[in-house]
Amino acid sequence: MTKPIEGFSKLTKEEKIDWLANNFTPDPKAAKRILKNYWNEDIELQKLHDEFIENTITNYYLPFGIAPNFLINGKLYAIPMAIEESSVVAAASRAAKFWLDRGGFKTVVLGTQKIGQVHFNYYGNPSKLKKFFLEVKPKLRADARPITKNMEGRGGGIVDIELRDKTAQIKGYYQLHCTFETLDAMGANFINSCLEQFGKTFKEQALLFGQFTEKEKHIEIVMGILSNYVPDCLVKAEVSCPVKELKVPNSISPKAFADKMVRAIDIAKVEPHRAVTHNKGIMNGIDAVVLATGNDFRAVEAGIHAYAAKDGKYTSLTHAEIRGDIFHFWIELPLALGTVGGLTSLHPLVKLALEILQRPTAEKLMQIVAVAGLAQNFAAVSSLVTTGIQEGHMKMHLLNILNQLGATQEEKKNLTEHFKNHTASHSAVVDAFEALRNGK
Ligand code: MEV
Repeated sequence: MTKPIEGFSKLTKEEKIDWLANNFTPDPKAAKRILKNYWNEDIELQKLHDEFIENTITNYYLPFGIAPNFLINGKLYAIPMAIEESSVVAAASRAAKFWLDRGGFKTVVLGTQKIGQVHFNYYGNPSKLKKFFLEVKPKLRADARPITKNMEGRGGGIVDIELRDKTAQIKGYYQLHCTFETLDAMGANFINSCLEQFGKTFKEQALLFGQFTEKEKHIEIVMGILSNYVPDCLVKAEVSCPVKELKVPNSISPKAFADKMVRAIDIAKVEPHRAVTHNKGIMNGIDAVVLATGNDFRAVEAGIHAYAAKDGKYTSLTHAEIRGDIFHFWIELPLALGTVGGLTSLHPLVKLALEILQRPTAEKLMQIVAVAGLAQNFAAVSSLVTTGIQEGHMKMHLLNILNQLGATQEEKKNLTEHFKNHTASHSAVVDAFEALRNGK
């Protein structure tokens, strides 16, 4: 059995790979070859990637694709997407084209505020704590000033600090519930640094507060951390057109299509099993742009799913309605994104993605990402209520299956042509491939 290793992070990259391949892979030679195949020849670029995290041994590639023709508030965008799922970029491009001819996407930012909290324990008199809080509040801001100075200079900073009594849920549990404006930065480091400073000041000043008893003076800070639940950092994206213009090629009538779309969204609103898959389709678009632009997709995912459950039941992030003879389809969701700092100024592909998007502000990026989510949902649900998704999905997946089977370029060309007129399932592709190979 392999023994635990001490000081792994101190080994060189080669030594780490040797240890890993020799102890954890069935074919160490093959494992080393695969890992090294993904190293970048450009030594500086590789070094940059090596230093993003600890114990880097290679790079993990995802395709970086472009969905063109997104008309957003009258301006045309080509949206970069980093994603491995074969049909996502094709679906986004299809939805972009569809709405390009129908006025495009309209978006609005509804809020940009982010939240952080200092969680603490206090077991004394609540009204004394309130008095202390009001007295110390200006000092909380003042002591954080070295951290907030630059952000304030640009128009952001601490918006508010509130004392919240949570003792009904947990005995002695209180919070400093803090609101921040971080402008074009995602702001995680800024917010967390402020919160840790608040915690320090709060604890120190409590020791000096004359009205506290000896016991009350000892406030215990449990932790200070931002919240990825950002319901006030909110964006809305919408499309609409007369029902009669909802013509889907070779499919049901525009009216039947509009009705089915509304029905499908209504189902996702009331049925959590469907809502999760429905929202997963939305996240296909959102995560892909969030990742391409160097943002934290885990934070975005966590915040969005919490928002989808904000009324106590997990529900659809998109909405559809027919008002008069107009079909309306929209999404409203929280997105805490940055276009400066972090990976955005370090990763060459991320920088390029932001250039492709015309160097957006964080607010602009929120709008673009929301549009990607809405477009993805439109594409998925419109396929689901007409042809089903497998037809398009399997066509896109065809190349993956052929690559798994080891098809040559010639065979791929031949079979791609064949499946333009045949239903592609995994077994149908295997059968057609074998028939072609065996000259049948
Ligand atoms: C697949 O990645 C996403 C879909 O399942 C989304 C949906 O069902 O709406 C197609």
